[in-house]
Amino acid sequence: MTAPVSRDGLHALDDGVFPPADWCGDAKTPLDADTAFNGFISTNVVFALEQLGLFAWFDGTGRLDVAEYSRLRQLDEVVFRRLLSAAEAFGYLTVTGDRVTPTPAWSELRRKIGFFTWGVGGYHDVFANAAAITRGERVFGQDVLRNEAMVALGSAQADLALMRHILDEQIAALDFSLLADLGSGISERVCRLVKSRPGTRGIGLDISASATDLAAGTVERHELTDRVRPICADVLDVLFHGRRIEGADQVDVAMSFMFLHDLLVDPGTRMDVIPALRKAFPHAHTFLLADTTVRPPGEGEELPVFSSGFELAHALMGVPIYTREEYENLFHEGGLHLRRTIPFGAPHTYLFVLEAQ
Ligand SMILES: C[S@@+](CC[C@H](N)C(=O)[O-])C[C@H]1O[C@@H](n2cnc3c(N)ncnc32)[C@H](O)[C@@H]1O
Repeated sequence: MTAPVSRDGLHALDDGVFPPADWCGDAKTPLDADTAFNGFISTNVVFALEQLGLFAWFDGTGRLDVAEYSRLRQLDEVVFRRLLSAAEAFGYLTVTGDRVTPTPAWSELRRKIGFFTWGVGGYHDVFANAAAITRGERVFGQDVLRNEAMVALGSAQADLALMRHILDEQIAALDFSLLADLGSGISERVCRLVKSRPGTRGIGLDISASATDLAAGTVERHELTDRVRPICADVLDVLFHGRRIEGADQVDVAMSFMFLHDLLVDPGTRMDVIPALRKAFPHAHTFLLADTTVRPPGEGEELPVFSSGFELAHALMGVPIYTREEYENLFHEGGLHLRRTIPFGAPHTYLFVLEAQ
């Protein structure tokens, strides 16, 4: 069942929230075996090109010289040429002798590159061990790990390309002097928001030491060492085990992006998370909470980027994910007033703007 499409190409839900039409996606199912296999190889090629700096390079210039680039980056030129040929076979690049140029398909990859970093860089071991996890021979968190820094980096790339303008519009309407970002990854978002509002400060809490290391670099790059503080901390310790964060009682806007589900894993404390958040940040007047939701059933024969990966990765990690309605109910039960629900760039991802009552 597909929701009706309005004149501006948005799909209407009953309550007036308009998920963008491109959430339906372009990947036609069933994916035939040739497409599926080539999809696996091509995601790896795209991630490799990102790691080798090609996306940043083509942001600045329209062509690349293979020999010169190999020398500059100290690459194995023979292997690099093979990688470029693979990308050409997939239709992403044109290679003529030493000269490489992006095809029109490149800009779509560029916009969605965060999902490749997230999926290939962050979750390749998890997906590769799907059978062993299903048999119970391996357990996520013990024998199988994700690459947390790549998950955080991919999320930041998706933010910059797909979500930034939506959040900036909401933030522009809010008064704040101290922001807290929970599960802040590499702290790119909190840096950007603090930088755009003179005199404000921010703290970013993340459980991952490697993401927090990257966050220290982000803060330095933005020249915000006196205003943004990345802290390596488990937010669950702050909510339920008395860990104190200096300045928490001065926070006026608390945010979390693509992270709320991580706080809700334990069914015993799930309904206590929102009240505990309000208590941990007692003067926060607004909570900006965004997360990807479970796709509604019967979405049709096409698939969008990301959703299938998000759903499977969390199943393999044993982390439940939620529908939009389940989130809205959780906020209501936890005493937050939902001001609005806004489609947030990535497929089936929403920004919930909530007021403390
Ligand atoms: C998908 S990433 C999102 C990062 C960032 N919010 C963004 O959108 O770019 C989720 C982040 O939550 C962090 N995280 C997971 N569980 C956590 C916990 N209990 N306390 C703090 N951070 C946690 C992970 O290390 C990861 O950086």
